[in-house]
Amino acid sequence: METSQTILVQAANGKTGRRVADRLERLGAPIRRGSRNAEIPFDWDDPTTWLPALKEVQAVYMVYTPDLAVSSAFEAIRSFTQLAVQTGVRRLVLLSGRGEEEARRCERIVQESGLEWTIVRASWFNQNFDEGEFLDLVLAGEIALPAGSAQEPFVDVEDIAEVAVAALTQEGHAGQVYELTGPRLMTFAQAVSEIADASGRNLRYADISVQEFSRSLSEAGLPQAHIQLLEYLFHNLLDGRNAHLCDGVRRALGKPPRDFRDYARKAAATGVWNPVEQTV
Ligand SMILES: NC(=O)c1ccc[n+]([C@@H]2O[C@H](COP(=O)([O-])OP(=O)(O)OC[C@H]3O[C@@H](n4cnc5c(N)ncnc54)[C@H](OP(=O)(O)O)[C@@H]3O)[C@@H](O)[C@H]2O)c1
Repeated sequence: METSQTILVQAANGKTGRRVADRLERLGAPIRRGSRNAEIPFDWDDPTTWLPALKEVQAVYMVYTPDLAVSSAFEAIRSFTQLAVQTGVRRLVLLSGRGEEEARRCERIVQESGLEWTIVRASWFNQNFDEGEFLDLVLAGEIALPAGSAQEPFVDVEDIAEVAVAALTQEGHAGQVYELTGPRLMTFAQAVSEIADASGRNLRYADISVQEFSRSLSEAGLPQAHIQLLEYLFHNLLDGRNAHLCDGVRRALGKPPRDFRDYARKAAATGVWNPVEQTV
């Protein structure tokens, strides 16, 4: 696929989108960084921003925020995909989540669009621990989550970005569903223990009930919709349905996925888990 026309990268300040945009830029591909704060803004909640963001775009890295499981996602993905067809987009690469029936319905919209499509269906991101929802818990020293002894094959977002860029720029990925996992099944306790080893911090994983979890999020001032999404993710996705490895990274890139231990070492080296105390 020639890269002479623009690739729209949604959530370009987010964990995968930023890396996809940076990688495309290094390849010399013209990109538009999708953000609510960009010069040409893109906002899922404001459909008037969609048409300008799609102008002269030939491929889109689609990232629905906050999650394809929320009720607004289906209609948004349907309308956006329709608009992409009308404006002459040729290729859609959709980031999806493993084990979510609601996400599957959104994937089908993209698969039935008539455009070239690739589904990048990811397990839980390693980077949730240093760039996402779990960072504050790591900094507090106790990672209290309703995850029990569930096993999750955490995936590195660098692998997701590499697969997405291949799908956006190369031939041979259209019509593929790439289910991306890391190389190991891990409990949350194991993940925390590897972060403790890498960072030199004394960290503890605590298994709590969904009710306790929701109460603590509510006390921390999180909006109710966000709390409900997290409840859904923990309650539904860690019941064993995703506790197996998949070969999506190898199929897409011809190499094994990055390991959590390497992720933890690199993240620790940035100092993110050992912030220097501010002195006034
Ligand atoms: N985190 C995981 O473990 C995981 C696993 C599998 C799949 N996923 C999927 O990955 C996607 C991203 O999830 P994430 O939580 O990790 O977030 P993220 O990639 O870090 O992305 C968040 C970004 O979304 C943008 N954003 C927020 N609201 C928006 C809106 N209304 N319209 C357009 N952009 C908006 C924000 O950028 P601006 O402020 O610049 O607009 C923000 O930087 C979701 O679809 C999720 O289902 C996540």
